[in-house]
Amino acid sequence: MEKSGKYITGVYPGTFDPITKGHLHIIQRASKLVDRLIVGVAPNTRKGPLFSQEERVKLVSEDIANMHAKHCEIEVEAFDELLIHYVQRKKAQCIFRGLRATSDFEYEFQMTGMNAQMEPDIETVFLMASDKYQFVSSSFIKEIHALDGDISKFVTPAVLSALEQKKNQRKS
Ligand code: COA
Repeated sequence: MEKSGKYITGVYPGTFDPITKGHLHIIQRASKLVDRLIVGVAPNTRKGPLFSQEERVKLVSEDIANMHAKHCEIEVEAFDELLIHYVQRKKAQCIFRGLRATSDFEYEFQMTGMNAQMEPDIETVFLMASDKYQFVSSSFIKEIHALDGDISKFVTPAVLSALEQKKNQRKS
């Protein structure tokens, strides 16, 4: 069933290293706005990810499979090209990004500007992170967990267990 008379596809890109409840909340809300949502998992070697791209795709897929209240078809896949080329190849009309504090703004502003210069017909839609997840970040989650802090409020049990496994592998 189309939501607007026109079939709309959106892409939600990210590194998802690992996926957090903040990301899941954005996915759920974005799924209300489009007919098909593609969650694109980027390699992002610049960020030195803890999980391989394949592991991240698996965790994102598991979390979405267990998510209640999906409002559209949601697909998860890895991508390894310029985001705007990926969005064009998928015939999507918009990109979703979550915005937390003002500190996200400058980076997102620049990225949106560059993408708009390359492809003005693709819109970037920003969804404000809810107050519960304003301060959640994948980097802090990894740091807190490595130092034995409790992160169970911010990630699903599947992600928590994947982080435990990584920690044990590193110790052995
Ligand atoms: N709630 C809580 N936290 C959130 C959140 C939300 N709703 N949304 C994002 N975050 C956090 C993440 O946990 C992450 O934290 P971290 O910085 O501590 O890791 C941070 O915000 C952003 O991560 P993420 O959402 O995974 O995205 P990203 O910024 O790593 O993704 C790409 C960047 C993939 C979109 C970008 O690198 C890209 O487009 N790459 C393709 C190459 C390209 O086209 N480059 C040119 C771009 S102009």
